[in-house]
Amino acid sequence: MGGIFVIKGFKGRGRRRPFSVEARLAEHVDRLGEEHPPIPVDSADYTMARPELLARAFGPVLTYMSRVELEVERNVLELNLLLPDPPAVDRHFYADVWLPQEIHHGLLLDRLQSLAGLPPADPDLTSMAFSYRVLGALGRWSAVQDVSRMLYYLTGVATEQSAILAYNKLHQGLLHLGERAVATTVVAPIRRQEPGHFAYYKIAAQGLWTELTGWQKWLVGTLRRHTFEPVGAYTKKQWAEFGAVMHHLGITTDGEGGLTRYAQQIGRVEMELLWAMRRGLRVPTYVVDSLRSAARLAAAERVATAGS
Ligand SMILES: [Fe+2]
Ligand SMILES: [Fe+2]
Repeated sequence: MGGIFVIKGFKGRGRRRPFSVEARLAEHVDRLGEEHPPIPVDSADYTMARPELLARAFGPVLTYMSRVELEVERNVLELNLLLPDPPAVDRHFYADVWLPQEIHHGLLLDRLQSLAGLPPADPDLTSMAFSYRVLGALGRWSAVQDVSRMLYYLTGVATEQSAILAYNKLHQGLLHLGERAVATTVVAPIRRQEPGHFAYYKIAAQGLWTELTGWQKWLVGTLRRHTFEPVGAYTKKQWAEFGAVMHHLGITTDGEGGLTRYAQQIGRVEMELLWAMRRGLRVPTYVVDSLRSAARLAAAERVATAGS
């Protein structure tokens, strides 16, 4: 699944990563490219036993995830705008490996939802936030570049972890419905490609974190706290849609416990890096708060729909 957050652009190169991190990332990207070519859309078996039931149970999930997967095309435009001169391995990753894989995830899900009688995906491939240009100006200051890159990696970590968990739940749910063909030939192959993305961002985030100074770390935490959003949720409507995704995946059906566990998994890496000194805290508060808001918006919408 896609999704980026960057707050400024590069002018010239920042400090280089320690060789071991750079080398690990390069090797990782090469392996991902070799072992995980984009999944051909025609390779899947879209046979469904009860498409209407599938659409009712998981329609909001397919709609949301196909959109977010296809919006990576816009995410790369945003990256090019904001990071015109990123480390070569980052560009190789997102342009040559991540982008084509994610787009194919979107195409597979879109084919599935169309065949299940749902409307086609409607990704927004063009609107870039004004803040990108404003914050891009800050990129002239190289110490700020590192802060932005760190935010990009942390967003990647949380996004890919969300995707892994969502595809796990979707896979289980489809099997439970008796939809073996699409579970094993659409969702399972997509799910296999997400951990490689997660690992990339995790290695990159851990590597860069060790190079940041105190005020940079403080700024990363502060910005993260104020800008965290669930993957693909840029508007209030999309927050509610994300809440509906959690509902349909059963994440929020057992009340607060499921939501907290989901937040803990999404926030684990940044909890360890950014907030390790806050003993007793198990998940960054802003992660669980944002998921809670999304769940609340979705619940309000369900009540409104039921009453209308
Ligand atoms: Fe994906
Ligand atoms: Fe991904």
